[in-house]
Amino acid sequence: MLIAIDGPAASGKGTLARRLARHFNVPHLDTGLLYRATAAGLLDKGCRLDDVERAVGIARGLALVDFNEDRLRGREMGEAASVVAAIPEVREALVKAQRRFASRPEGAVLDGRDIGTVICPDAPVKIFVTASPETRAQRRALELAGRGEKVDYAAVLEDIRKRDARDSGRATAPLKAAADAVTLDTTLLDIDAAFAAALRIVAARAPA
Ligand code: CDP
Repeated sequence: MLIAIDGPAASGKGTLARRLARHFNVPHLDTGLLYRATAAGLLDKGCRLDDVERAVGIARGLALVDFNEDRLRGREMGEAASVVAAIPEVREALVKAQRRFASRPEGAVLDGRDIGTVICPDAPVKIFVTASPETRAQRRALELAGRGEKVDYAAVLEDIRKRDARDSGRATAPLKAAADAVTLDTTLLDIDAAFAAALRIVAARAPA
């Protein structure tokens, strides 16, 4: 069971991916963490986010486990990740490890921006998770507040819009639904309803 999940920031794809992975008892890779960890590695070394050579070195050296999620999930690192993720050489450096993860015999769930289009174009199940920018900003503001970050809804909405534009507008692996992906709009769905809808998509795509 290989499931590819893509979508914009705070659309609910991470929560959905984790639940699907647990349900089907397969490993889950949040590929956003790879870009976040690359950005964090650059900032730790005092490098600029457009230092391609260093960024590629950091990306190549990443292990796909034991991320310091607490630090990586902050608001600042999401922004930095989206800058680093627009560098084609960085994306290229991360392709092999993601495909290896996806090729486990038991299957896997991967979530990101280009899983259905670039990393796993043959995945039998592809879900493109969306929600309105306002709903996503509310969710992200709640999440950040829960982490103890001081947040302002208007600033978070502005971040979301900026990130959507950067992720969708970049030349390499832009955020977009694969032609064979099913779109799941979670604007009006809570987590349980979104999970139930995702299970129906999986059942339709991979009956077994
Ligand atoms: O949780 P959220 O959607 O805000 O962020 P994320 O999934 O951790 O991704 C952070 C940034 O990494 C995104 O804005 C993208 O620019 C980039 N990313 C990407 O380009 N490709 C992926 N497969 C995953 C993330």
